[in-house]
Amino acid sequence: MIKVVTNLLRFLVISSISSVILVVVHRSPCSYHPNNLPAAHKEEPAQLVASSNGTTHQVAAASSSDSDDDKLSELLRRAATEDNKTVIMAITNEAWTAPGSLTDRFLESFRTGVKTEALLKHLLIVTVDAKARERCARAHPLCYALDVGGADFTSEQRYMAEDYLDMMWRRVRFQGRVLELGYSFLLTDVDIVWFRNPLLRVPVAADMAMACDRFRGDNPYDLDKGANAGLVYARASARTAEFYRVWYEARTLFPGNKTQDVFEKVKHQLTARLGVTLQFVDTAYFGTFCDRQRKEKDFNKLCTFHANCILGLKNKVHKLRAVLNEWNQFKAAASNNGTTLITY
Ligand SMILES: *[C@@H]1O[C@H](CO)[C@@H](O)[C@H](O)[C@H]1NC(C)=O
Ligand SMILES: *[C@@H]1O[C@H](CO)[C@@H](O)[C@H](O)[C@H]1NC(C)=O
Ligand SMILES: *[C@@H]1O[C@H](CO)[C@@H](O)[C@H](O)[C@H]1NC(C)=O
Ligand SMILES: *[C@@H]1O[C@H](CO)[C@@H](O)[C@H](O)[C@H]1NC(C)=O
Repeated sequence: MIKVVTNLLRFLVISSISSVILVVVHRSPCSYHPNNLPAAHKEEPAQLVASSNGTTHQVAAASSSDSDDDKLSELLRRAATEDNKTVIMAITNEAWTAPGSLTDRFLESFRTGVKTEALLKHLLIVTVDAKARERCARAHPLCYALDVGGADFTSEQRYMAEDYLDMMWRRVRFQGRVLELGYSFLLTDVDIVWFRNPLLRVPVAADMAMACDRFRGDNPYDLDKGANAGLVYARASARTAEFYRVWYEARTLFPGNKTQDVFEKVKHQLTARLGVTLQFVDTAYFGTFCDRQRKEKDFNKLCTFHANCILGLKNKVHKLRAVLNEWNQFKAAASNNGTTLITY
């Protein structure tokens, strides 16, 4: 199996060097046949659509997708930082945007963080259902409705439900699209609170930097860390766009697997083959409840804190509220004793 996967990955990478082909998938094909992918990539430059029956067929360049690209480009242009065309993106749905829910905590944290409020003008909120879109339109100037092809993503998604998986794959595809449009991004889940700009912790030479669930050892270059795709920076380039494209396509090699698990399976080979510089950021800076070795939160260091490894929406909201309270106490104490430690 490993050998087959390696060969297919090699093929996926090699076959696409000449051109980038948009692959639009309505639904993860259940009956994947490995021969489809090689065939798919010889055809260009038309779009290829994988049907639910597992076959691949060509369609005429979709005009609706062109106009959607225009809409997305325009929003990205408005959200991007002047100097480096970077956008901050958060993907959300009805349950997460309900009043008092995760998105409220998330947005509140920008206002209580250090120099984070000014980042809100670079934040593009990506919604996956009508209710979230409506709420975004009232609360934030930059909202993009991601086309989810009629699927229902409104509820709190159970961890491994099929719709949840599908939404996660659409997120991966969406991130790839943003890179293809020439924008770098910092994608953040909304069950994360921000204290400082996480870009302060992204090495300038990195193509991609990602949070991790546990940061074992002290070697920052070692990729054997559990990826956490809930907070990820990717710099726009042909390499990173290609990385996302192959990651997305590799889902058919591991049917039913989560996006992050597939990422874990392909990260070594893909970074090596494509020359993508990937780093995981220490949980001391991108904090998470997963890393039990770091029970103590050092607010001098933390940029963000993720309610990861916490099950249930209510629990997440509750835990993040507590973390925000701790942060506010820390800030108050620091300003009382006159330290300059929170200028950044
Ligand atoms: C699979 O689906 C495509 C597109 O919907 C269709 O053109 C093709 O005939 C189908 N193939 C089979 C074997 O059902
Ligand atoms: C990109 O620009 C933003 C805003 O000016 C800055 O905060 C960020 O550090 C820059 N990122 C990189 C990787 O240079
Ligand atoms: C992940 O993919 C592998 C390879 O196809 C498969 O054997 C395994 O059952 C999948 N895991 C899940 C949780 O679906
Ligand atoms: C000031 O308060 C901060 C936050 O509680 C603490 O980390 C720091 O050590 C304090 N500094 C002094 C000089 O007491």
